[in-house]
Amino acid sequence: MNKYDLDGKVVVITGGAGGIGRAIASLLLGSNARVSLWDVADEALEAAARDLSRISAGAVRQHKVDVTDDAAIARAVAADRSSFGRIDALINNAGILGEVKPIWEIDPRNLRQVIETNLIGAFLCTRAVLPLMRAQRRQPHRGHIVNVASIQGKEGMPHAAAYSASKAGLMALTKSVAKEVAGEHIFVNCITPAAAETAMAQLITPERRAEIVGRIPIGRFVTVEEIAQMVAWLVSDECSFSTGAIFDLSGGRATY
Ligand code: NAI
Repeated sequence: MNKYDLDGKVVVITGGAGGIGRAIASLLLGSNARVSLWDVADEALEAAARDLSRISAGAVRQHKVDVTDDAAIARAVAADRSSFGRIDALINNAGILGEVKPIWEIDPRNLRQVIETNLIGAFLCTRAVLPLMRAQRRQPHRGHIVNVASIQGKEGMPHAAAYSASKAGLMALTKSVAKEVAGEHIFVNCITPAAAETAMAQLITPERRAEIVGRIPIGRFVTVEEIAQMVAWLVSDECSFSTGAIFDLSGGRATY
């Protein structure tokens, strides 16, 4: 796999114990970054940190963080600042799928939980990390933020109203925040993967899986490694003129 020169960069990955988060962490560690995994799932977090430490001993931290919990986020920012001195990149990757049903059957509490995790969680983490990024020295940039949205946020998807709406919101959040910090050498971008083989994909029926693959012109799911490759560039020094952008990873499904 390609490696990048990430030379000691400190990268926070929310949902870092999940399929995509771990793949991103793995590639970044192999490219000499240091990572802090934030996740709400205790045991998975410990297991991920243990496995990833084998790639680069001493370069992995982990914090139990619910991204909807302001106080837990503040504690993790303070801990990472004290361990590493700075945060070069934040990957807002924590997310949940929610109920896969027509809107009239979705429990409003589930809708709120999906929006709260996928959109407000990214908002809170961004809000908590940006003051540190804005205050830190340029090396040569002050920071990169990558929001993990979904093709469903661009295109919509039947039986995924809450999820699609949360990811569309994340794209708009990306564009707005990018404009606020563009003059400060902080870059905020978003990716829109198609379906990937992670725990999330286990939640859908075989019929739904076939329907999703049928919508992807390349005819398969994206791999977590392919997602990680795009993220690695988006947190690298070479990402120096793209901000507020939505990077496609949909195997040709996207129409814009
Ligand atoms: P996953 O289920 O393997 O990982 C998600 C991780 O987020 C889990 O470790 C989970 O514990 C964590 N998480 C959930 N709620 C949280 C909270 N409140 N606070 C902190 N952590 C929390 O799923 P996957 O596929 O790795 O998903 C990562 C991101 O990629 C999500 O935002 C998802 O929406 C997005 N995505 C996934 C696709 C897929 O087909 N797998 C396709 C497109 C986007």
